[in-house]
Amino acid sequence: MYVDGLRLDDIRGQVDASPFYVYSQAKIRANHAAYAAALEGLPSLIGYAIKANNNLKIVELLRELGSGAVLVSGNELRLARAAGFDVARTIFNGNGKLPRDLEFAVQHGALINVDSEFDLGNITAAARRVGRTARVLIRINPDVDPGVHPYVCTSMSESKFGIRNSHLQWFLDAIKAEPGALELVGVHSHLGSTITKVSIFRDAALIMVDFVKEMRAQGFPIQFLNIGGGLGIDYRHEGAVLPTPRDLIDTVRDLVSSLGITLIIEPGRSMVANSAAFVNTVTGVKTNGNKNFIVIDGSMAELIRPSLYSAYQHIELTAPHHTPKAVYDVVGPVCESADFLGKDRELATPAAGDGLAVLDAGAYCMAMASTYNLKMRPAEYWVEGGDTLKMIRRGETLEDHLKLFEGL
Ligand code: LLP
Repeated sequence: MYVDGLRLDDIRGQVDASPFYVYSQAKIRANHAAYAAALEGLPSLIGYAIKANNNLKIVELLRELGSGAVLVSGNELRLARAAGFDVARTIFNGNGKLPRDLEFAVQHGALINVDSEFDLGNITAAARRVGRTARVLIRINPDVDPGVHPYVCTSMSESKFGIRNSHLQWFLDAIKAEPGALELVGVHSHLGSTITKVSIFRDAALIMVDFVKEMRAQGFPIQFLNIGGGLGIDYRHEGAVLPTPRDLIDTVRDLVSSLGITLIIEPGRSMVANSAAFVNTVTGVKTNGNKNFIVIDGSMAELIRPSLYSAYQHIELTAPHHTPKAVYDVVGPVCESADFLGKDRELATPAAGDGLAVLDAGAYCMAMASTYNLKMRPAEYWVEGGDTLKMIRRGETLEDHLKLFEGL
């Protein structure tokens, strides 16, 4: 296996710890370029969803490439500022934004998505305290089914996000009553994640277009149509043809053009997921009853998606093997039966010390890592310029953990 021009086993030799994450910088650049090309000719803003991967170097790279950012916490806003983002090109989103974080967002001029009645109250109060007008978008829950795992679906009537369509007028009246504190500049919807059917983006956009027209008719200067993120990627590697950023943008292009509006999109996964591998070392192979197991040093602590969402992440040994193939569960050392990276995978039989890579590990993997069982969060590297390996985040150590207790 290779990451750009470097053999993964050579990378394993250079990195003196396991497990670790390794990214291809070229892949992130290519993913961004695919969005930029798809958006050509449309007034637009790419808001990279920092939650997918908050590595400062990756966030800085996306800023350099021209991306804005989507934030879900005050700390993500602080990180975006540390990465040099123009805060006017960031969008602060979420169903439980804290008053102190809202103040910070208004102060720095972020766009803010309104999620509920109380959220609008908090945004108004923050704007009054700061003495600035908050630029807001209303997050609509359009009640369309994105056909994804319930944990990553955000656009149906059971979802905690956004406002029900029928409540729109209440929000418009409340905003009209606060002209000094609030300026309504757009509508937002985010349907869910891992979406592989782009026609639903058009279904949701059509609902939003009606809202934009209604809002403009009531005198609001609507400039932004935000269709959220959510494009899926090819996790299975079985040759399926999945929609591209261009397919996604083309479903709404005519609507955006005819409205004369700026399109905002919020990709996370499709910007970074396929750029990385989570690289492990095999500790041993065992058979128990009727199951075979490859036990590796990485676990659900560093990569929780399979345990949490039954998500499929493709797994390969880092070097070719000529040993007999068998069907294995790939598991970590954590004391939980939910600690697996893959189930029922047909793989050659590795030896202790061999490398095993979990692919497409660039989104929601390191960002969701924990230190459960005191497995410290691993280091991250990227390959830049095709053949240069660089550390982009050091691995955490037990000393980092023990420092939290110093002086207590
Ligand atoms: N915008 C909003 C408002 C969001 O809530 C999200 C993701 C995105 C954009 C980016 O969506 P993406 O393009 O990455 O699908 N941890 C889960 C995914 C959670 C997604 C949360 N919201 C996973 O590992 O699959």
